[in-house]
Amino acid sequence: MSLPRRAGRIVLGIETSCDETAAALVRDDRTVLAAPLVSQLAEHAPYGGIVPEIAARAHLERLDLLIARALAESGVRPADVAAIAVTAGPGLIGGLTVGLLTAKMLALVHGKPLLAVNHLEAHALTARLTDALPFPYLVLLVSGGHCQLQLVRGVGRYERLGTTLDDAVGEAFDKLAKMLGLGYPGGPRVEAAARGGDPSRFPLPRPMLGERHCNFSFSGLKTAARRLVLELGPAVLEPANLADLCAGFEQAVAEILVDRTRRALDVARERLGTAPPLVVAGGVAANRRIGSALRALAHEAGVAILIPPPALCTDNAPIVAWAGLERLELGLVDPLDVPARARGPLDPTAEPLLGAGAKGPKA
Ligand code: KG4
Ligand code: ZN
Repeated sequence: MSLPRRAGRIVLGIETSCDETAAALVRDDRTVLAAPLVSQLAEHAPYGGIVPEIAARAHLERLDLLIARALAESGVRPADVAAIAVTAGPGLIGGLTVGLLTAKMLALVHGKPLLAVNHLEAHALTARLTDALPFPYLVLLVSGGHCQLQLVRGVGRYERLGTTLDDAVGEAFDKLAKMLGLGYPGGPRVEAAARGGDPSRFPLPRPMLGERHCNFSFSGLKTAARRLVLELGPAVLEPANLADLCAGFEQAVAEILVDRTRRALDVARERLGTAPPLVVAGGVAANRRIGSALRALAHEAGVAILIPPPALCTDNAPIVAWAGLERLELGLVDPLDVPARARGPLDPTAEPLLGAGAKGPKA
């Protein structure tokens, strides 16, 4: 199955769901014409996590300038834009509201259709922007707000095979980094600290390993890591201890992700008759140990694996514009009173699991 025929349409995408303010112009031949982005890392770093009010204010201050920059850089005039796509949720409600109000205003003033994009859908469809990947495929979304396995059969046709019962995986990295005083965001710091470490020195649990379902849990791992940090006391910061602990943590996460994804590939094979390609999205996909463990899994399972470039794996506007283009192609436009949603599953049949849900900034 190939992608539908395109006719040179350009969509403006807006992303303000978390701590990246971003605008992008993307054409339906999969060309990213402009994609200015401003991260708020510096504003949130002193707090060790994202502060929603600071995020909303920063989006408000920057978004219109970024949209103007996207238009100026690409030479695209508002009249050339076919539609305005914006992340409507899930995410932090203040930031979402800034993006959505801006998009509605532009749609109204320029007489363009509005496309309210689910943030998870934008991540789920990224591989079609980067590689024109045909449906169906399996997406492992591993970010600061989410840890999910989605079977993607088509635009709007998602089946959630697994999700986290507690923390998102990026959040687990961020919490470990906070315990160790490594700073925020934690994932890249933990990865750097793990270099040269012995991943087998400290015994850390791998919750859910071997379970028949495809869900994740990271709270047991986090608690075990905290116990080790307390036991070691100040010695935890000695380079060898720090490297071994971080490497052990990374290895535990990698094994959990591999085991759960292997199970999801089996489930997908039962559903489809053949195992689909695997796509990995979200900020944690940048982790090298995790990436190579997932590549090894794909090799073992005989499926192709696609990990989009980091700039399109973390939060960004081209993937919002792209999801908008896919929806526009199908006539899935939204009314101007569409609300922002702090929560919003991709698969409407997937109920939140009991006691479950990411507790991170997006919860
Ligand atoms: O996708 P993303 O940019 O934002 C969300 O939508 O959440 O993901 C950010 C998350 C953070 O929790 C960060 O610590 C984690 O991804 N992360 C990593 C790495 N780079 C970013 N985790 C592990 N290893 C990395 N190299
Ligand atoms: Zn995201």
